[in-house]
Amino acid sequence: MNISIVSVFKELYEPFLSTSLIKRAREKQLIDLHLDSFFSYVKPKERIDAPTFGPGAGMLIKPKVVQRAIEANQKAYGPSFNIFFSPQGRLLDQTLLKQLATTLQEKKHIMLLPSRYEGMDARVEEKYADMTISIGNYVLMGGDIPAMILLEGLLRYIPGVVGKEDSVEQDSFSGPFVDYPAYTEPVDWQGLKVPDIVRSGNHKAIDQWRKEQAVSTSVLHHFNWVREHVTTPEDKQLAARQIPSHYVALCHADVLIGREKQPGTTSVTSLDIHDIARSCKTYGVKNYWLVTPLEDQQKIVKRFLHFWASDVGSSYNVHRQQAIAPVALADSIDQVKKQIKKQEGSEPILVATSARRVDHPKAITFFDQDKVWQEGRPVLFVLGTGKGLTPELIERCDYLLDPIEGFTSFNHLSVRSAAAIILDRWLGIHPKKI
Ligand SMILES: C[S@@+](CC[C@H](N)C(=O)[O-])C[C@H]1O[C@@H](n2cnc3c(N)ncnc32)[C@H](O)[C@@H]1O
Repeated sequence: MNISIVSVFKELYEPFLSTSLIKRAREKQLIDLHLDSFFSYVKPKERIDAPTFGPGAGMLIKPKVVQRAIEANQKAYGPSFNIFFSPQGRLLDQTLLKQLATTLQEKKHIMLLPSRYEGMDARVEEKYADMTISIGNYVLMGGDIPAMILLEGLLRYIPGVVGKEDSVEQDSFSGPFVDYPAYTEPVDWQGLKVPDIVRSGNHKAIDQWRKEQAVSTSVLHHFNWVREHVTTPEDKQLAARQIPSHYVALCHADVLIGREKQPGTTSVTSLDIHDIARSCKTYGVKNYWLVTPLEDQQKIVKRFLHFWASDVGSSYNVHRQQAIAPVALADSIDQVKKQIKKQEGSEPILVATSARRVDHPKAITFFDQDKVWQEGRPVLFVLGTGKGLTPELIERCDYLLDPIEGFTSFNHLSVRSAAAIILDRWLGIHPKKI
């Protein structure tokens, strides 16, 4: 298995490639690493780089130099899969590493072409790159560290390189969850003790504990990875158990109404009840509260809920009945909070929603689940009707969620659509094609 590396600074790799597991892999001839320099393809004192055409400073590696390097290494070690490095490339992750390990085993020759300066002439990548890799959304001075990172990740998949191959398959990001916490001697270190379960000798209980820890860390700190990679019903269930309980309240009071946007009340609509209830059921929301202090509105809701709880409701449409079963009525947000506290043992975190983008100290984005979830309390999304929640109610909430926006200036979603989008962005599974 040949890996050739052509670099401007060949000397950077020497200690790296002759240390630890990579050194052993070379000694065992599991991989043949070939280090080459772009300077080998120019005459002494000739430059490998030239200024960029057009405005703007910066030097680029000349295409001819790269071409000669690629041709020479292919002649020596056979046709190659060529990898370039750029912040504009495909983001490296565990899935891509695994894929590249298979490529390496099939192609028998991978060539790494890290760049320096402002990069390489764009035509070189166009002609030779089988893949361009970025190690993150930031800019380094050169592609050598990215190339080393790629090697570190890739070689773990080559049989024989790391001692325990099954640990590679269990490590973080090999599946939807990260690794579990691990401990060694001493049992008591500066007052911090190894959890008893880990030393219990009960393998089944240890496995169970490790799994729970792994899933909990993943859900809390890597939720986007989890939702991109859960596939099996078992994994979905494991993740769901670690997500705090979520609730939704649709406010028909403490909302702004009319042209003047004055505080007032609105009427309940069966469309909102049905549609939001279905969204809530889909995303595992425990209860969906209709909040209205008005007796006539409460009567309508009660009649509606009574119908859907009855046999007539179930024979009419059993799925709608299932969706409506967790719908509840409350006369105020305070009553909702009290009820959730009774059910869960702790007060909910209130997340206000609004169509208006405001610069608010409590503002959170759709990527802030960890911030909200790490408090270990239930979460209540507070949705408004009419022209939205009153500023007073927003102030009583713990957070204000960013509005939903597209690349247009139209900003008039129905609360039903908004609820569905919010729940999907916050709790939805978004599989990534791998
Ligand atoms: C200064 S950077 C060039 C940045 C380039 N002008 C841009 O903004 O996209 C020089 C070289 O470092 C390497 N490099 C820098 N950041 C990288 C990253 N995040 N991932 C992979 N390679 C990177 C690439 O080989 C790149 O051509």
